Amino acid sequence: MMDTPPHKLTLELFKALVARLQLEDSFLQKHILFRPEKKYGWKPVLLTPSVEILTCCWMPRQESGIHDHGNSLNVTQVIQGACTAQIYEVLGQELVLSKEEEIHANQLTGVERQPQFHQLINKSNIEPLVTLHFYCPARPQ
Ligand SMILES: [Fe+2]
Repeated sequence: MMDTPPHKLTLELFKALVARLQLEDSFLQKHILFRPEKKYGWKPVLLTPSVEILTCCWMPRQESGIHDHGNSLNVTQVIQGACTAQIYEVLGQELVLSKEEEIHANQLTGVERQPQFHQLINKSNIEPLVTLHFYCPARPQ
């Protein structure tokens, strides 16, 4: 990844790089923050100009809302629980759901640069969800 400028990185390569990364469970546990009163909880893990990493913690039925990540690629890895990941494409003036998948611990999903949109949902009524998010380059702060 060091040899590839962020704007030339593909989602598939970014996913392959993330898949090779092994973060210690004890390290991740320090970045767990559930926020029942918010849309979801999150904590920063790493921020550099080219890569940003954060955790998101989802109570049952919490969801992100449909959004994009501008010029950043995004890869999401499930740490605990089940994550429903939806991809939306722009069709004229509308956002159309083009893909939905459920991913589990250690599985990855991703979203391309704009104009692709996505939404993450914890559809469980009882189980919390913890996800780890990678952005390249870092999102505008
Ligand atoms: Fe996102």
